[in-house]
Amino acid sequence: MKGMMKVKICILSGTPKSKGLCQSVIEAARQGIADAGGEMGEIRLCGSEIERCKVCGNGWGACVTGECEYGDDGFNEIKERVKDSDAVIIATPVYWGETSEALKSFLDRLRRYDFHHKEVLVGKQVLLIAVAGGSGNGILTCLEQMERFCRHANAHIFDYIGVNRWNNDYKKQAVKEASFAIASGRKSGETVKY
Ligand SMILES: Cc1cc2nc3c(=O)[nH]c(=O)nc-3n(C[C@H](O)[C@H](O)[C@H](O)COP(=O)(O)O)c2cc1C
Repeated sequence: MKGMMKVKICILSGTPKSKGLCQSVIEAARQGIADAGGEMGEIRLCGSEIERCKVCGNGWGACVTGECEYGDDGFNEIKERVKDSDAVIIATPVYWGETSEALKSFLDRLRRYDFHHKEVLVGKQVLLIAVAGGSGNGILTCLEQMERFCRHANAHIFDYIGVNRWNNDYKKQAVKEASFAIASGRKSGETVKY
């Protein structure tokens, strides 16, 4: 990797906790990225000032053609950080079979903006991780919700990883290796020999 630019990966985190199962999965991703010589920036949406979409005007709002009218609440800043990254990991605890609300609020606004502007996530690899630490139910609906976001944002889904209390040993390994693969520059659709 000498002389090469480091691959920049941004993690959009939906966990409110600084320790716990979801954070330990994020640490596995961090390790994979570091092992590949990449750079990781973690963005925690819980506790941010970012508000839900106000659904301006007739429903499409100013962000159809311009900027979000409320972007100064931190939305624009995070949007630029995501735009500036080479790939993205979205990691969330499963709440009610969905992503955490704080992450969802951000993704809702980013989707509206990027669906039209096609400048933040278009063609970008995204790794989706849902961490269900309770019953283990809701991983599929949570991943499906994030998948829909990626489709609307024209992103390239690299993988879907569902983690629970009884599989997290080997799923953390999968998260680490998927993160390593992305940070090493593996392209979606590239065949891996077996
Ligand atoms: C409001 C709320 C809703 C939750 N809903 C689910 C759920 O639908 N399925 C599940 O397996 N766990 C559920 N959990 C447990 C979280 O998934 C769990 O806290 C998290 O995924 C991973 O653990 P961590 O909090 O230690 O990071 C819920 C937790 C909270 C606080």
